[in-house]
Amino acid sequence: MLIHTIEKLRELRKSWNSSKSIGLVPTMGALHEGHLSLIKKAKETCDKVVVSVFVNPIQFGPSEDFDKYPRTLEADMELCNSAGVDAVFAPSPDIMYGKGNRLSNDTLTYVCPPFFYVNKLCGKSRTGHFDGVCTVVLKLFNIVQPDFAFFGQKDAQQAIIIKKMVKDLNVPVEVIQCPIVRESSGLALSSRNKYLSEEGKKDALALSRILNNIKMCFNKGITDIEALKETAYGYLTDKHDLEYLEILDKNTLEEQEKASSDSIVLIACRVDNVRLIDNIYLGEG
Ligand code: PAF
Repeated sequence: MLIHTIEKLRELRKSWNSSKSIGLVPTMGALHEGHLSLIKKAKETCDKVVVSVFVNPIQFGPSEDFDKYPRTLEADMELCNSAGVDAVFAPSPDIMYGKGNRLSNDTLTYVCPPFFYVNKLCGKSRTGHFDGVCTVVLKLFNIVQPDFAFFGQKDAQQAIIIKKMVKDLNVPVEVIQCPIVRESSGLALSSRNKYLSEEGKKDALALSRILNNIKMCFNKGITDIEALKETAYGYLTDKHDLEYLEILDKNTLEEQEKASSDSIVLIACRVDNVRLIDNIYLGEG
């Protein structure tokens, strides 16, 4: 069922027996196997599953890809229907933020996650991005009122920040993080992979190769963070514009003296002028 308004979503939500558990999978559409794995987990965990499809303008910077971000609602609906999703909530920006409202924290209430969590990794180059993400996610939580919400590990910083928001603001939602889904080549699935040329897709494999190699070196006993990071250079060519490669605590994003089984390795790199991110846990997930 496709729903565009908050009123209709609330009506449907009310019609569900209160003993039913509700899962929300927040997305920006252009659904792929990665999203389907979140939906599958939601179906296994909950009685009713809502998928939101909303390209959230306030999490894009002025020079980012908001206008060209793939919008494929019809195909998304087909995938959701075959996956047994109970409702797809696809509001317009006017519905979410009010018609005519200037989308800025001068005029609208924003949720600002702590500086410590946003002043690194993707937050460093994407000023205000996580304010936009937390604001829309809290709004979606308030609209759908799910018991569980499902996020992918690919956006590891996002998942950590959302868990922190839920904890700090006592939001009654359990956040469930699901593993990264990869192509057989190793490339992490992303809606932005659509922008890559065939050549770019090959060059993009450097990200997962760098991560796997760091994990292999760690498993061989190397724990010096600089030494582990240096192993990346063998994979990078002039086709790669490395934005960051960091090894941090997987729960808190704090720096560590040495890599450990609590570490996560995170990378962001532009290939074909497409900004790609990926990560891997050095220990168990
Ligand atoms: O990960 C995403 O697709 C988006 O950041 C999210 C969580 C749907 C918020 O717009």
